[in-house]
Amino acid sequence: MRMLVTGGAGFIGSNFVRRTVKTRPEYEITVLDKLTYAGNRANLAGLDVPLVVGDIADAALVDGLVAEADIVVHFAAESHNDNSLEDPWPFMHTNLIGTYTLLEAVRRHGTRFHHVSTDEVFGDLALDDPARFNEHTAYNPSSPYSATKAGSDHLVRAWIRSFGIEATSSNCSNNYGPYQHIEKFIPRQITNILSGLPAKLYGTGEQVRDWIHVDDHNDAIHLILDRGKTGETYIIGADNDHVNNKQVIELICELMGLGKDAYEHVADRPGHDMRYAMDSTKLRTELGWRPRFTDNDTGMRRGLEETIAWYRENESWWRPQKEQVEADYARKGH
Ligand code: NAD
Ligand code: DAU
Repeated sequence: MRMLVTGGAGFIGSNFVRRTVKTRPEYEITVLDKLTYAGNRANLAGLDVPLVVGDIADAALVDGLVAEADIVVHFAAESHNDNSLEDPWPFMHTNLIGTYTLLEAVRRHGTRFHHVSTDEVFGDLALDDPARFNEHTAYNPSSPYSATKAGSDHLVRAWIRSFGIEATSSNCSNNYGPYQHIEKFIPRQITNILSGLPAKLYGTGEQVRDWIHVDDHNDAIHLILDRGKTGETYIIGADNDHVNNKQVIELICELMGLGKDAYEHVADRPGHDMRYAMDSTKLRTELGWRPRFTDNDTGMRRGLEETIAWYRENESWWRPQKEQVEADYARKGH
């Protein structure tokens, strides 16, 4: 089975490739990745997986690669909300034009396609709203990032309905784990503390993200590839919608041997989504998925301990980017 993985040198995609190599030797993987600031060759180090450096919006390149694949798993995206507020264009290019380019290629070649998307397409919930997002929730994206991901989801649905492509989609909540770019919340705090800098909380930190370990996300994608029904969408979430950013930062400080309050408040994100919560009943009941990274307080303690250990042990992976990332955040007031 020949599998093309777009964005396979990024955070979730490279964890997916590692996990697939380890657990599913039947797949022969090729990675297509542009190696933007978020992609890193080192994420695939030690794996015997070809990496094609190129753009998913390059129709000729994509056509040739899709022609050689039995299945395409599409992770490539511009993925950071804060960046989309500063310059939305790369998000339009990759998330919309890039996804369109892949869809046209899989349509021509009759290739199975899986589209990786996010809970942010649904917008946010109020803190006191007990609702959870499910497969029928209306789309209501807030940022240029989430609007372009919502657009890409609509493209996939239209290509399924109008052209009959064999595709599935998944919408997952916030991931954490090894190889996550240090611009993102959890690795930024861990690497700040390892650098002797304070952890940085946006605003009051009341916002809730439904955190999931990246391996649990990727296991769900494999189940969808194995047993999912084409044409369908699956919600992925690990039931952590009771933990707010302040509690996560406090837990990181505690696990790293500091006082719970060893962080500072910085400027909030404009239009900051308040709460995400995922109802993954369909995935659990129809495909039998269960998250492995759970515990009974925050649901993240073991996963965070392992993630902190990974950043401690892999300083050479993140150190070269730290100064620039923090300089960019300082310029934005974060
Ligand atoms: P990431 O930013 O870490 O990685 C994205 C990868 O895509 C990078 O390797 C980058 O080089 C590559 N890329 C960007 N533009 C490209 C282009 N034009 N052509 C080819 N490659 C390109 O992102 P991530 O956090 O690993 O997210 C992967 C996917 O999962 C995205 O589609 C994102 O929307 C989705 N998602 C992420 C989360 C999360 O919490 N991180 C949660 C749910 C869904
Ligand atoms: O929900 C899924 C989404 O999760 C994915 O689609 C995105 O690709 C991914 O980046 C993530 O989006 P968020 O905007 O939720 O993630 P981020 O890591 O940027 O921020 C998580 C929360 O932490 C958010 O409420 C903002 C806050 N935050 C972030 C940073 C970087 C802080 O309090 N301090 C920080 O330094």
